[in-house]
Formats: sequence, C-alpha cells, structure tokens
Amino acid sequence: MDRWAAQHGENANFICVCVLGDNSASSLAKEFGSSLRLRHCVNGFVDGRQDMPSYGQLGCKGFIVLDPDHAIISQCTASFMELREAAFGSVEAILGQRLKIKFGDFSMGDFVTVKGIASQPQLNGQAGVLRSFVEAKGRWQVELDSGEVKALKPSNLSALVTNADADEDVPSTASEEDPGPTPTTFCVEGVETVGVASIDAEHDECIAAMNKLSDSRKLQDLQAVYSSVSAHFKNEEDLLVQYGFGANQPSQFSPLTSHIEDHTRILRLIQEEIERKQSACSTALACSVDFVKKLADAFHFHAESFDRQYSQLLVKAGVQ
Ligand SMILES: [Fe+2]
Ligand SMILES: [Fe+2]
Repeated sequence: MDRWAAQHGENANFICVCVLGDNSASSLAKEFGSSLRLRHCVNGFVDGRQDMPSYGQLGCKGFIVLDPDHAIISQCTASFMELREAAFGSVEAILGQRLKIKFGDFSMGDFVTVKGIASQPQLNGQAGVLRSFVEAKGRWQVELDSGEVKALKPSNLSALVTNADADEDVPSTASEEDPGPTPTTFCVEGVETVGVASIDAEHDECIAAMNKLSDSRKLQDLQAVYSSVSAHFKNEEDLLVQYGFGANQPSQFSPLTSHIEDHTRILRLIQEEIERKQSACSTALACSVDFVKKLADAFHFHAESFDRQYSQLLVKAGVQ
C-alpha cells in the first residue's frame, strides 16, 4: 500500500486503519506503521466500538476502494489470504482503470508489442500488457507473454491491435491461433489427496488441464481449464451440501459459504483472463506462463486451505 501511495502521489489517497475499537488501537497502529515503515499512506485507527465498520475487518482479506466523492467502488477487493500476490493485481487494475493514468499514448492494462530495442533484439515483436508506470524512470513495467516483466520506455512500445481493429486485415479463419515462439512451460504439481477417490480424480483432471494450458497457452486450453475446474467445483459443492458440511452454522460464518466464495473467486480469475485474451490480438498467446503460475497457486492454496476441511467428514461418510 505504501508503494501505491508513493506511486500515485496526489492522485489517490491510501489509508491504513487499525480497527480494534478501543484505546489499544493507537499503540497497535503505531507499531504497525513502524514495522511496515509506512511513509506515504495515512496510518490511522478506530478507538471506539460505535465507529467500528459494520462489515467487519478486512486487512489481508481485501481493500475498500472509494471514488473522489467517497462512493464505494469496491467493498472488498480480492483477498491476499486467498490469492496472495494475484490479489494486488486486482487492486492495481481498479486503480489503473479509475485513475485513467495516461503516459504518452498508453494506459495501465493496455496490450502492447515491443519494438526498436537494439540491446535486446529478442524482445522486439513480443506482446505484453502494461502493469504500472515508474515515473522516476519514465518506463512502463511490461508483463510479456513469456511471463517476464521488463521496464521499457514508451518509445519502445506500440499498441497491440485488437481483434475488432484488425478485422479488415485478419482473415475470418482466425481460428488458427498462432502459439508464437516456443513457450516457457511451467509444471503444475498435483494436490494432496482428500481421501475421496472421485474428488482426487477430478483434482487430477484440473491439474492435467492446467499443464496442457501451460504447454500451449492457447485460448481453447484456457477455456478447457475453466470447464474442468467449474465442473469439479459444482460436484464438490453438491457433495458438501448433501453431507451437511457447515450446515449447523449461520451462513455468514459457515465454512461452506467461504468455500463456495473461494470457488467463485478462482473461476472469476480464469474467466477474466479468458475475456482479456478474447479482446486481445488474435496472434497473441492465450495467456502467459505467469498466469498459469498464479492460477496453480490459487488452486493449490484452495486445496490446502479449504478442501482439506471437508476431508474427514466425507471419508467418515464413506464417500468414494
Ligand atoms: Fe473446493
Ligand atoms: Fe477441490
């Protein structure tokens, strides 16, 4: 957050609030500010119960984003606890969109191709997406389709034409997606058994689909990942409901509710990537190795943190 505050200067304010609801909040906020070396964002606290937020505590579970008129843009951004680094990407995407940061002809999130770099000619022609602008260096942080992130000058970038822009030039047989240069692959490892053979088999199918995507990075394999993951989540949720997982707790505190929310979050991660790539140039790779890593990380984290919670219940019930 402090880095964002430094990066965006007066364009956006970042406030870190300790919400203990009593006087101890003051010292905790000071401790927090000094241990995290907060220098650019506002560090505050709530010291009375009456002022506590009605929606509870967020912290690592996400950020609240307000517009200049203090209307809520996002009540809770993606959770670091669940998506880790990928959660920050969702905040940055909102910031980029809302601040409409423009430097030269580009905005955060634009798809670009690299050109005119004499010192690293292998980068020329590569496609990528703009992640942030480093004002001190006058360069964009560009996430290339290879998964590498490079700091590049605006003069070394060209806007990537979208499918809509390129309709006149690209034959309608655009189904022949060119996978481009040989991709760097990433091996997605399997997840721990949950003790239920049918669920273990579905987990394996999801991992196999991710590995196929890692090899090809084609849109159709990204869509296949969505199909296998969503089918698995549906089956898992049906089983959890059938065997009463979390049935004795109010829905807002039920482990079934948070489990389903995490499924939704992972599916959204894939769906957003599909939509991003569908609007990109037809010759661009479907997704970066970096995305496969993020997805694998989210899936593993889910299996370790959520799926293991129901294991005992289903094993005891004799589910095969
Ligand atoms: Fe699950
Ligand atoms: Fe699962």
